[in-house]
Amino acid sequence: MSQDKVALITGAGRGIGRDIAQRLGREGYACGLIARTKSQLEETAELIRGAGGRALVTPTDVSKREQVVASVATIERELGPINVLINNAGAYLRKPFTEISEEDFDFQLKVNCYGPFFVTQAVVGGMAQRGHGTIIFVLGSETRGGPAQYSAYNASKVAQRALAESCAYEFMHRGVHSVALDVDGAVGLPRITEGAPQEDPDHFVSTEAICNEIVHLINQPRNAWTFAVDLRSYWQWRPRVAAKKKE
Ligand SMILES: NC(=O)c1ccc[n+]([C@@H]2O[C@H](COP(=O)([O-])OP(=O)(O)OC[C@H]3O[C@@H](n4cnc5c(N)ncnc54)[C@H](OP(=O)(O)O)[C@@H]3O)[C@@H](O)[C@H]2O)c1
Repeated sequence: MSQDKVALITGAGRGIGRDIAQRLGREGYACGLIARTKSQLEETAELIRGAGGRALVTPTDVSKREQVVASVATIERELGPINVLINNAGAYLRKPFTEISEEDFDFQLKVNCYGPFFVTQAVVGGMAQRGHGTIIFVLGSETRGGPAQYSAYNASKVAQRALAESCAYEFMHRGVHSVALDVDGAVGLPRITEGAPQEDPDHFVSTEAICNEIVHLINQPRNAWTFAVDLRSYWQWRPRVAAKKKE
């Protein structure tokens, strides 16, 4: 395995992050895996190792700067300098606007905005020094036109988009490719499709398509980088406006 292929994937314990980590493992990346739940990270690591890859588990809360800094140091010491960062960890909140507490709002910002800020800040300096790296921010449809009842989540994801865009301009001349990858729709994860068995599977964005896009972005030549992507199924089944209350 090439020493210079090292990826850090946040939120790698389950869902989209687990699939991204497995795919990057198959692409020859040694994978640093971050999330809070150690057992889930271990499962992801076993899947990567079972396919012949390399993985390191570093349980971390991305909203805690000191934990992030320590984990990045461990990953770089054990696996080598990180040249791909996937900011995927995320927390959802669905609540009517008037019921969102200050704590709810803080929590969304802490995980979805401060989290990628801390992780990117811990990684990007090294990438810029070495003159290459890719940072992908996994956003959601909410960064364009938020569905009802997702205001706090939406605000945090819009803030994350701003980080992606600012990093792109600040670091592109130093060889760091920062991308806002907007997954605009529900993803075909079992927990989602099982709750909507009547839906055509093509109504969901597949994790395979997300992984394909990520690999494509990582391998783009630097004279033709993509900075923003909208991945969308041909069919938007999730209503953006809550159904009217029955009188
Ligand atoms: N699912 C969709 O339909 C969809 C659509 C568009 C965009 N997205 C975006 O895709 C990303 C992944 O979504 P998903 O559906 O795969 O989510 P998920 O299944 O809930 O997984 C989220 C991952 O993030 C980790 N995480 C959550 N809070 C964390 C924290 N404070 N520190 C470190 N890790 C944390 C979780 O592990 P722990 O809980 O153990 O920490 C878990 O590994 C999110 O950013 C989401 O906004 C999802």
